[in-house]
Amino acid sequence: MGDTSTDTRGSRKGHAAPSVDDLRSSEQPHALARGGALLAASLRLAHTVSEGCVEALLNVANNAADLLPRQLRRRAEPYADADLTGQARARERAPAPPAPQVAIVTGGNAGIGFATAQQLARRGAHVVIACRDAGRAEAAVQAIARSAPLVGGASPASSSSSSPSSRPPPPAPPPRVEAMPLDLGRLASVRAFAEAWRDRGLPLHLLVCNAGVMAPLQRTTTEDGLEVQFQVNFLSHWLLAHLLLGHERSRRRGAAGGGLRARRRAGGRAEPGGASGPPPPDGTRVVVVSSVVHRAGPLQWHDLLSERSNREHGPHDSAVAVHPGIVRTALANNFFRSYGLSWAEGTPLEPLRAAWRAFLDTAGQAMLGSTEHAAERMLHACLAPTAAVAGRYMSMGRLYTPDKAADDPAYAADLWGMAVRLTGHTPHASLA
Ligand SMILES: NC(=O)c1ccc[n+]([C@@H]2O[C@H](COP(=O)([O-])OP(=O)(O)OC[C@H]3O[C@@H](n4cnc5c(N)ncnc54)[C@H](OP(=O)(O)O)[C@@H]3O)[C@@H](O)[C@H]2O)c1
Repeated sequence: MGDTSTDTRGSRKGHAAPSVDDLRSSEQPHALARGGALLAASLRLAHTVSEGCVEALLNVANNAADLLPRQLRRRAEPYADADLTGQARARERAPAPPAPQVAIVTGGNAGIGFATAQQLARRGAHVVIACRDAGRAEAAVQAIARSAPLVGGASPASSSSSSPSSRPPPPAPPPRVEAMPLDLGRLASVRAFAEAWRDRGLPLHLLVCNAGVMAPLQRTTTEDGLEVQFQVNFLSHWLLAHLLLGHERSRRRGAAGGGLRARRRAGGRAEPGGASGPPPPDGTRVVVVSSVVHRAGPLQWHDLLSERSNREHGPHDSAVAVHPGIVRTALANNFFRSYGLSWAEGTPLEPLRAAWRAFLDTAGQAMLGSTEHAAERMLHACLAPTAAVAGRYMSMGRLYTPDKAADDPAYAADLWGMAVRLTGHTPHASLA
């Protein structure tokens, strides 16, 4: 993750970062370019749909495999040891690294975020779920706290490397999870979250930018006056990541210069083991939940956080973009129900829509992956060695080539500049 100034990134080679209006106008190409744009859009869509179909078939196979007895199941994911029997499976594989000590998962109260937070907590991480609704957050905290820790409370790596003995493993500590309020639809809430985090003085090993909405039926704006999906999925996470990384880097410097001073700077409220604690040995990892759907649109939100940050800020902190799969959550179900055969509405073919919805609610569910499978893919992005995944895009559980626009540095610079302008936050180069 990186720090920047508007001069060096938002205005590269004299190319000024676009305003929101610039973006709007760029969505309406010149008449002569329309034919080419239409062809490009069709190819994008075809690519997206073909990947989606392959994934749906894989989901059917994975869901069928879930009906088998646990012992017979085989997962491709290296961190698929999401249950107690997984301890045995993990020993046969390359050892997994320990879970990060402190992790924040945005939208950790539902769907993929919940499953990811749960698996991290079961592995011994101190997990903070960042959620907008206190009631839903508390229910998730209770559910995660009730889930069984992995045997010994340690990662498969430590269990597999321990000397063979007949001694029983030490009792596992209960999952450590809590919630903090965060509404990504309000930049003020993002700032408040980051300040509250700074005051706690905790280190940050992992930030999972997971919360999101998908294609609301009507254009909706936030109280900041921005389109909701743009702000929740991208802009607020961009701000959150940079504020938190800024605080984390200050905390590390404070820890290096003496924990007491750092605690004083934090208003004396820092928690034990926080401000004076050692820096995360592997830096802070930021996992940005992306989607296969990034191919279908002209803007690559995930690339801004993943690709640029790693190119420009070296190996210390790292970012990974991950498509978690097409997953059976409220978000995916709402999307397919709302948009599937929407063209048939008001036509004689309208009954097809009802049939589609009936299919979705029944057999169609088999084409969507489970949140447990998604969590395995998320764990891969969260736990794999930095060198293997930093700055990369992952899909279907492996490193994958993103849309080529995601590798366009000028494009990323434009988006970066716009984020700086819209949030009013210019991450400072001295934090690097
Ligand atoms: N499901 C899929 O097939 C799929 C595919 C590709 C990518 N993804 C991505 O995966 C991520 C998780 O999606 P999901 O499928 O797990 O969906 P989900 O079950 O609907 O969960 C979405 C989470 O985001 C939170 N959220 C939404 N708006 C928020 C806001 N303004 N502030 C804070 N939190 C907010 C929700 O909180 P509330 O409970 O309060 O609403 C919820 O916790 C999303 O980024 C999505 O784009 C999903």
